[in-house]
Amino acid sequence: MSSETFDVVVIGSGPGGYVCAIRAAQLGLKTACIEKDNTLGGTCLNVGCIPSKALLSVSEKFAHAEHDFAGLGIDVGKPKLDLKKMMTHKDKVVASNTQGISFLFKKNKVTHIVGTGSITAAGTVEVSGKDGKKTISAKNIVIATGSESTPLRGIEVDEKQIVTSTGALALDKVPASLAVIGGGVIGLEMGTVWQRLGTKVTVIEFLDRVLPGMDGEVSKEMKKILAKQGVEFKLGTKVTGAETKKGKVTLTLEPANGGAAEKLEVETVLLAIGRRPYTAGLGLEKAGVTVDNRGMVQIDEHFQTSVPGIYAIGDVVRGPMLAHKAEDEGVVVAEIIAGQSGHINYDCIPGVVYTAPEAASVGKTEEQLKEAGIPYKAGKFPFMANGRARAMAATDGFVKILAHAETDRVLGCHIVGPEAGTLIAEVVAVMEFGGSAEDIARICHAHPTLNEVVKEAALAVDGRPLHI
Ligand code: FAD
Ligand code: NAI
Repeated sequence: MSSETFDVVVIGSGPGGYVCAIRAAQLGLKTACIEKDNTLGGTCLNVGCIPSKALLSVSEKFAHAEHDFAGLGIDVGKPKLDLKKMMTHKDKVVASNTQGISFLFKKNKVTHIVGTGSITAAGTVEVSGKDGKKTISAKNIVIATGSESTPLRGIEVDEKQIVTSTGALALDKVPASLAVIGGGVIGLEMGTVWQRLGTKVTVIEFLDRVLPGMDGEVSKEMKKILAKQGVEFKLGTKVTGAETKKGKVTLTLEPANGGAAEKLEVETVLLAIGRRPYTAGLGLEKAGVTVDNRGMVQIDEHFQTSVPGIYAIGDVVRGPMLAHKAEDEGVVVAEIIAGQSGHINYDCIPGVVYTAPEAASVGKTEEQLKEAGIPYKAGKFPFMANGRARAMAATDGFVKILAHAETDRVLGCHIVGPEAGTLIAEVVAVMEFGGSAEDIARICHAHPTLNEVVKEAALAVDGRPLHI
């Protein structure tokens, strides 16, 4: 048993934890980061954002080669898939990113401790690793233990036939058919990866729309476009059971509001009905750290838990489960611990769905503005009317900007279209500065770019788009 004292001990090395550790070290604090897995980077780098984007990017190229190249004058014949090579690319991308964190830890003098961290009391963390247990003293502890896939009663995940996103990122053959339970972000991203590679994909969603957190028009447009690409949707439907036999899974489906059951036989099932905070083995109860009824660690406005000196950030606390939200909280909590004032504007956190086309959103949806009784004007412009989008043969979708009816201040922006995730950044910046739709409309946008659709949507807020 040995004991070492740190200013900050971060438990978990996902985007919340590793960024917090780096920022704390930058601020001159003696910092350690404990990670139970063999590699650094958490869900995001190992089994989340990064590997999913590798497969999305490559499968999109495959789909273009199969469906679009010939029409653009590129005759390469029917493309042939080498799934093993595609997976090797994904694994290499993951390895280079996780190794990158090890490098950053060394560069910033963050001590990397391998093992499972458990809080025995404020100021003390016990680490169980390969070589036994050791106790670490910490003036400040940051919980950044992330989240895990939410289970569904009656659906037994084996990560082979019935998989979560983790299994869906590592299938060793293209399944003939895939049922996706949950029409959220993971369902649509991972569903489209396999659909592009030749799988018959059926998305089963409990609610009457996909991407329920996003603006209603975005949900509708995404469903329409993905259905055109070949994804089948069963909305307002719940799965009540699964039977696995001889390489097939038979799901029992029922209308969400009651009615006759039906069967769906598929080769593979992806369970993607949300994620829940992960705090197993952390010893929260013993340490006196309170969680809410959904298992989220409760924090005050300074990210402090119910125990002074113990903080929490990322997926394990309230707010959207997004890597950039976790990262920003990591920076802020390190700065708060160092005596600075940290701040995050939760109204300006963008969300992006990396399908093709992408969907991106920031701020309030139309539904939220209506519910809150906030008067607003909407300006919408289609990619179809943009020269660059036509040149790229990527004309699906639109940009919609929502601005306050009296002040013109931008309250939200919702995009379906090529590079939506990149385009939204401009609107996020304007919103951070409290800018108006008129501000965006008066900014000079290079021609021909996709960004001109953002400018035109801003002009449309005032009823004066130029190119439609
Ligand atoms: P995590 O990344 O979950 O990291 C937590 C870490 O803590 C893990 O490494 C875990 O092993 C470790 N840990 C847990 N308990 C202990 C313990 N007791 N001791 C030591 N270590 C412990 N978000 C985006 O913004 N963009 C995307 O494109 C995106 N794509 C995604 C795709 C998929 C398939 C999934 C599943 C998620 C995706 N996300 C995406 C969400 C994103 O991954 C999470 O929001 C983000 O990883 C949360 O970061 P975190 O630091 O809170 O936790
Ligand atoms: P999600 O919350 O996005 O979607 C879950 C969907 O499942 C919802 O539409 C919900 O109505 C539906 N659902 C819930 N119970 C159901 C049931 N019993 N039967 C059928 N449908 C049901 O969650 P998802 O897709 O699992 O992703 C988890 C989180 O991971 C996301 O919320 C997001 O925060 C993060 N993520 C982010 C990505 C990104 O930023 N691009 C990509 C992937 C994940």
